[in-house]
Amino acid sequence: MSSLFKRTHMCGTLTADNIGEEVVINGWVAKRRNLGGIIFCDMRDKTGIVQVVFNDDIPQELFDRADSLRSEFTAGIKGTVKRRQDENRDLPTGEIEIFASDLVIYSEAETPPIYIKDDDVVDDNLRLKYRYLDLRKKTMQDSLTFRHRIAKTARDYFDEQGFTEVETPMMIKPTPEGARDYLVPSRISQGNFYALPQSPQMYKQLLMVGGTDRYMQIVKCFRDEDLRADRQPEFTQIDMELSFVDEEDVMSINEGFMKKLFKEVMDIDLQTPFRRIPYDEAMERYGSDKPDTRFGFELKKLNDKVSGCDFRVFTEALAAGGDVRGICIEGGAEQYTRKKIDKLTELSRSYGAKGLVWIKFADEVSSSVNKFFSPEQLQEIGDVFGAGRGDLVLIVSGSAKVTFDTLGFLRRHIAGEMGLLDSSRYDFLWVTDFPLYEYSEEEGRYTAMHHPFTSPQDDCLDILESDPANVKARAYDIVLNGVEIGGGSIRIHDRALQQRMFKVLGISDQQVEERFGFLVEAFKYGAPPHGGLAYGLDRLVMLLSGRDSIRDVMAFPKNQAAQCMVSGAPSPAGEGQLDELGLELKKKRKIEE
Ligand code: AMO
Repeated sequence: MSSLFKRTHMCGTLTADNIGEEVVINGWVAKRRNLGGIIFCDMRDKTGIVQVVFNDDIPQELFDRADSLRSEFTAGIKGTVKRRQDENRDLPTGEIEIFASDLVIYSEAETPPIYIKDDDVVDDNLRLKYRYLDLRKKTMQDSLTFRHRIAKTARDYFDEQGFTEVETPMMIKPTPEGARDYLVPSRISQGNFYALPQSPQMYKQLLMVGGTDRYMQIVKCFRDEDLRADRQPEFTQIDMELSFVDEEDVMSINEGFMKKLFKEVMDIDLQTPFRRIPYDEAMERYGSDKPDTRFGFELKKLNDKVSGCDFRVFTEALAAGGDVRGICIEGGAEQYTRKKIDKLTELSRSYGAKGLVWIKFADEVSSSVNKFFSPEQLQEIGDVFGAGRGDLVLIVSGSAKVTFDTLGFLRRHIAGEMGLLDSSRYDFLWVTDFPLYEYSEEEGRYTAMHHPFTSPQDDCLDILESDPANVKARAYDIVLNGVEIGGGSIRIHDRALQQRMFKVLGISDQQVEERFGFLVEAFKYGAPPHGGLAYGLDRLVMLLSGRDSIRDVMAFPKNQAAQCMVSGAPSPAGEGQLDELGLELKKKRKIEE
């Protein structure tokens, strides 16, 4: 006989409207207190907590069973909803309690290694090891539900727009997204490997050649790269590709998506179209290709103001072809003491800056370079920013990259410290006109900034080979509050142009054949003009739910060392498995004593 109590309500949904009703709940014991003749038990499920009362009106045997309840036991309870004498305003169900008339204990529980409390501070690895306990927290369940709603809205919206969700293979040839691949050895074809997809890029283009017209997929992607708060080795994209479109079509469909998403999941009316900003302008003004525009502190180039000055650090940077740039922190002079500026200088070093020059505007102008600039000269620099009393100007010299990276970092870091990152604001923008290529010092050649199938802009076709540094791409990123939530491009559908692109990238015919031969071949048989975009779903959920890390919006994320703490993956393969795959380890694993 089944001892399951058939549930009538979820714990967190009971209100004063249910007073007088007979209800059945199932869940976990969050807390139990025996106050002599009366036992209070908080029962929890994904919707929240409700208080249950076992008093001395019930049979002794039932009272004793209730007394045996401990934290995290699972149980079913029947009872009557009554108004609570001592209303608990902290609890959504705080107006009521259930007077129990029956109880079934489904399973007992040992003392859990982590508290099931939303605000408990606990070591991350412990949380991840016992993720199934961590997931019992309401914040975590809310996060999973929120993620589900975003995914569902995406599917609904793109369905309305005529997209078909198509699954693409997970065991593939490496795709050229630029990160390291995860490899899967083949047993049947020993010595050969599949790669896990960094994205479905080439398959979605094949779908366009195949006539799918509008494809979308919510899809796992795998990239073996260093982890950060917004990067996981295994993450999810909302991926799409469209035929017979240009940039305007892709952008407006996606503005429509964001509009619907914000309305459905947050009841916010977004203003569209989103602002657009060319890559060069984003770098010049914000030092970043994913600028956070919720606050000012814009960069200004100071080359003209400091050329010929006595401060050798600046003149040497200029002589080496570099730049001098600064930002003005309005109202920052007082808050940023010497000690705090030292800290900023230290942080700046990791972006390649050799130092950080400051100017403070108070009754008098003071600066770390007083010796080299007169007060009038310092004021002249300040004037570039419109700096006045109470403001702080920070200046960095070096290569353009170093000045952008350092100041781009500083403006956001300082905005954070000054509490200027308004989490109720959603600043969207499209970054457009990216360079097609970027020069890799490491490889001594140009590489594709996006990927090699991204189309150059029409007016750059003549300089594709002669001036690669100035070729612009038909690529766009969608940025929200300083985070790149998605990126895409219009692709090359012309074989001759694709060949030229591979040549500039220094990819030989043989390499093309080996790596992308199937895509190039497909384009022989009638390729539609096409383009697309992919969002990082995890990032989107993180931003919309106000979390700091994408780990908080994934059920089972990896830790910093790319391990799954729940299962212990990665783990050694058995000898038999390696034999079957025809593999032998070069470095034998250290056998732990
Ligand atoms: P891209 O490489 O820009 O483009 O990736 C698209 C979006 O995926 C997210 N993302 C990640 N999220 C979490 N962890 C990671 N390691 C990670 N890497 C990327 C970002 C990013 O904007 N095939 C192209 C898209 C296209 O051209 O259509 C692509 O994958 O939010």
